[in-house]
Amino acid sequence: MLKRPFNFGPLTLPSNIFCAPLAGCSDLPFRRLTTAYRPGLIYCEMVKMDALVRHDPSTYRLLDYETDMHPIGAQICGSKPQFAGKSAKIVENLGFDVVDLNCGCPVDKVTKDGSGSAMLKTPELIGEIISNMIAAVKIPVTVKIRAGWDEGQINAVQITEIAEKAGATAICIHGRTREQGYKGAANWDWIRACKAVAKKILVIGNGDLFDASSVYRMFEKTGCDAVLISRGTFGQPWIIGDVYQGAPLRTPLDFRDALLFHIEQVMSYHNDRKAAMDLRRIGCWYLKKGRGTRALRESLNKAQTIEEIRAFILDYPWHETDFSSPEPVEAEVLI
Ligand SMILES: Cc1cc2nc3c(=O)[nH]c(=O)nc-3n(C[C@H](O)[C@H](O)[C@H](O)COP(=O)(O)O)c2cc1C
Repeated sequence: MLKRPFNFGPLTLPSNIFCAPLAGCSDLPFRRLTTAYRPGLIYCEMVKMDALVRHDPSTYRLLDYETDMHPIGAQICGSKPQFAGKSAKIVENLGFDVVDLNCGCPVDKVTKDGSGSAMLKTPELIGEIISNMIAAVKIPVTVKIRAGWDEGQINAVQITEIAEKAGATAICIHGRTREQGYKGAANWDWIRACKAVAKKILVIGNGDLFDASSVYRMFEKTGCDAVLISRGTFGQPWIIGDVYQGAPLRTPLDFRDALLFHIEQVMSYHNDRKAAMDLRRIGCWYLKKGRGTRALRESLNKAQTIEEIRAFILDYPWHETDFSSPEPVEAEVLI
């Protein structure tokens, strides 16, 4: 259930409602919007251990944050124990409050060297890497996994026990397999099974949390200690506030204003080309939730410049849209 505040190893966090690492999405502008609602913890996009160790500037930029984003976590991805301690230490020295190990990324380019969700195939290596991270830092170490590689190889419970033995503060379980990618429903039974064997390690539930009521259901069905909201933050940065206080009725203009604010944040941080590319996708996050927004979505997809994007949004007849009963959106479409 919802806890405010929430004890997390040596830390006291504002709550047990966390915001996920989202590669290509949870950049600094995105985090400016979500941290306004005071999540218990927010993670940056995953970064590769070896890139951190060789001080790659674009990797460091993914870890940009502002003081009011604390408590904040960084997530590292890699399968080489010799990089684990060094990269965790770099994260700690950058001022992060938590360091997480990614064992869930399904992308071939990541799994081909045994990293991300490929780590699910080598549970003992996960234990070794966590131990190296813990030996190198004082901040809490967490790990994020999927339920298993595929339906035939579900091993989240075994990995929970290994992570606990290694001394991780928490384990986050995404209730899908690697084979599933983001398709189909997340199976929360696997999260409940992990919670059932956890003695000391905190269990964070993840998968299909798209509104406040699904968050409450996740607590109820799994008994998890905390939740991690992922795609549920797209186009509704207020979801954390909704979990705390209940969801107020929102008008089309609330969505328009949030989108315009998001645009300002993106423009203040990224160059125009990158901003224009990101904003097509970001625009769709907000607009997918309303009926009568199709024409605007199509216009945003064609827009070449920020000025065009802004003009399309400002000139749109928002009073003709309806965000009170959105068309059902398939979860995977939100990517
Ligand atoms: C675009 C995108 C990027 C993601 N990037 C990361 C990442 O960097 N690290 C990670 O652990 N999980 C990442 N994930 C997985 C999510 O954090 C989460 O586990 C998954 O989306 C399931 O939760 P949901 O069904 O509530 O979205 C990403 C997911 C998406 C859709």
